[in-house]
Amino acid sequence: MLSGEDRFNAWFEALEARHLSLLTFAEVRRGLQALSSLYVERRKRLVAGAALEGSGKRAAFALFYAPLHFLLVRAIARALRAAEPPPRIIADIGCGTGAAGAAWALEAGVGCRIAGVDRSGWAVEEARWNYRVLGVSGRAFRGDVARAALPGKGGGILAAFTVNELQEDARAHLLQGLLAAARGGARVLVLEPIAGRAVPWWDSWSDAFRTAGGRDDRWRVPVDPPERLRLLDRAAGLDHRELTARSLWLRP
Ligand SMILES: C[S@@+](CC[C@H](N)C(=O)[O-])C[C@H]1O[C@@H](n2cnc3c(N)ncnc32)[C@H](O)[C@@H]1O
Repeated sequence: MLSGEDRFNAWFEALEARHLSLLTFAEVRRGLQALSSLYVERRKRLVAGAALEGSGKRAAFALFYAPLHFLLVRAIARALRAAEPPPRIIADIGCGTGAAGAAWALEAGVGCRIAGVDRSGWAVEEARWNYRVLGVSGRAFRGDVARAALPGKGGGILAAFTVNELQEDARAHLLQGLLAAARGGARVLVLEPIAGRAVPWWDSWSDAFRTAGGRDDRWRVPVDPPERLRLLDRAAGLDHRELTARSLWLRP
């Protein structure tokens, strides 16, 4: 049985082999720079799905952000005791490469399944591959967050770095769906960045979560990522030795 760290390291090695066999380090670095400028400066294009256009940006998303989101969500799930007791299913809405939901599911242990949904067919394929390599029991589907089935009692719902990409009406609809799911017995975790891009809807969501008995937190998580990831980080002029995020958390 692999420890959590061994599993993470084996997964990262597999990611390197998968993505650096298709693109060079310099191509992934350029993709990473394009992706990070898109997230910081051009929110409107995110709604249109521009983040996952092009092989360089996709590789950066899969090889760079997926492991960082895994480490971040694992730390937050531990701090919030989100896996106690283990959810039977986690709906990861806007799952992307699936890493964030997988981190929470691995904290919960065997018996917890993931249902990932994303509008990008590429992301869904990547999520399926990641679930398999990480040893998580889960399935990923192509679909819209607005129509995703949300679990009730004993389930968990994760929306990691996704709500900001939704259109306003879809976002308002999702908030009502999340609050209803929590009333039905599900726990809900929403994550967004602290720095970089504007998150204008946060305060109203925070009020709604706190009124329902939830909490709003800011996180700083020091990480020690694998060597290749650190090299990419530096080469792209970024610095991810500490990961930050804000979260909304609601449990029945
Ligand atoms: C920044 S990524 C985050 C991915 C993942 N949750 C993570 O933390 O690594 C946002 C994801 O939301 C997806 N997305 C955005 N709007 C969506 C929608 N309306 N329905 C389904 N997926 C959506 C995008 O395709 C993308 O994969």
